[in-house]
Amino acid sequence: MEKTIKTIGILTSGGDAPGMNAAIRAVVRKALSNGVSVKGIKKGYQGLLNEEIIDMDSHSVSDIIQRGGTILGTARCKEFMTEEGQAKGAEMCKKHNIDGIVVIGGDGSYRGAQALSKHGINTIGIPGTIDLDISCTDYTIGFDTAVNTAMEAIDKVRDTSSSHERCSIIEVMGRNAGYIALWCGIANGAEDILLPEKYDFNEQNIVNNIITNRKRGKTHHLIINAEGIGHSTSMARRIEAATGIETRATILGYMQRGGSPTCKDRYYASIMGAYAADILCEGKTNRVVGVKNGEFVDFDIDEALAMQKNISDYEYEISRCLAVSSRS
Ligand code: ADP
Ligand code: F6P
Repeated sequence: MEKTIKTIGILTSGGDAPGMNAAIRAVVRKALSNGVSVKGIKKGYQGLLNEEIIDMDSHSVSDIIQRGGTILGTARCKEFMTEEGQAKGAEMCKKHNIDGIVVIGGDGSYRGAQALSKHGINTIGIPGTIDLDISCTDYTIGFDTAVNTAMEAIDKVRDTSSSHERCSIIEVMGRNAGYIALWCGIANGAEDILLPEKYDFNEQNIVNNIITNRKRGKTHHLIINAEGIGHSTSMARRIEAATGIETRATILGYMQRGGSPTCKDRYYASIMGAYAADILCEGKTNRVVGVKNGEFVDFDIDEALAMQKNISDYEYEISRCLAVSSRS
C-alpha cells in the first residue's frame, strides 16, 4: 500500500551540475503546493548521516534559479556505500520524520536512493550530471551549460591556435563518458575527437591526420580529448616531436561544471523537479524521472540502472567527415 507522505527531504549528490538549484527550487515549491513539508539535506548522503538537515520554505529557494552549483552542497560519501551506512541513513530519515527523499545526481546517487528505498524510505531520483551518461534519460541537468561553456572556450583556443599555426589538444570533462567531447568536437569543428568509448590509442593515426591536413592548407588542428583518456600534456609533446608542428595542451577542467545554467538546463530542471515532487508526494518510490523522445517520464530505479546507452556510431562518423576540408 502506498504510504501517506507528509514530509520529504531533498539532497544533491556526486558531482555538482548547473541547474541543480533550479531543480531544488522546483521540488520545494511543488511539494509545498501539494501540502507536503520539505527538509533540505546538506552535502548529499554525508549530510544525512551527519544530520545536517534544515527546514525549507518557498523563500529558502528564492533567487537561486540562475545560480550554478548547489545551495545544499554535495559530497561523495563512502560510508553510505556500506549496509550499515544505509541503515543509519534510513534511521536518520525516520528520526527527522522524513517519509521520502528526492535525490539529484548520477547513477551512483541512484544506487544510494535504491538502498534507502529498500529500507522503507521512499525515493525518487532526478538526473543531474554534466556528463549526460545516465542511460534511462535523453537529457541530464547540467549538460547544456557545460558543453556551451566548453564550446566557447574552445573557440578562443582555436583563434590563437590558427594565428600561430599550432596544433591544440583541448581536454574536456568526462571520466567515463565522451558526450561532452563529442558534442564540442562537432560544434567546434575539431579535426580529431578522442572518446573513452571509441579511442583506439593509435597516436600514429592522429599524427598522419595532422600532416595530411597541414598539406591540405589547414592552419590549425584541434584535438578534443576526453578526461577519461587524459594525458593531454604528454600527448602534446609526443605529437609535436612526431609532426614537427608546435602543439599545446589546454585542460579546461572544473570551469565546465560551474556557471549560470542555460535556459535549457533551468527548464528541464524545473519540470523534472516538479515531476519528482509530484510522484513522491503521491507515494511512489524507487523511481527516477527523465526525458525520453521529448516526453517527461519515470522508470523503476532497478530497470533504469540496467539500461545501456552508447555513443552513436553515425554521429561519431559524421564528426570525422565534417572536419575534412581541402582547397581545390
Ligand atoms: P554520481 O551520482 O554523479 O554518479 P558517484 O558515483 O560519486 O556520483 O556517487 C555519489 C554518491 O552516491 C557516492 O559518494 C555514495 O555516497 C553514493 N553511492 C554511490 N554508489 C553507491 C552504491 N552502490 N550504494 C550506495 N550508495 C552509493
Ligand atoms: O560530474 C561529472 C564529472 O565532472 C566527470 O566528468 C568527472 O570525471 C568527475 O565529475 C570529476 O569529479 P571530481 O573531480 O569532483 O571527483
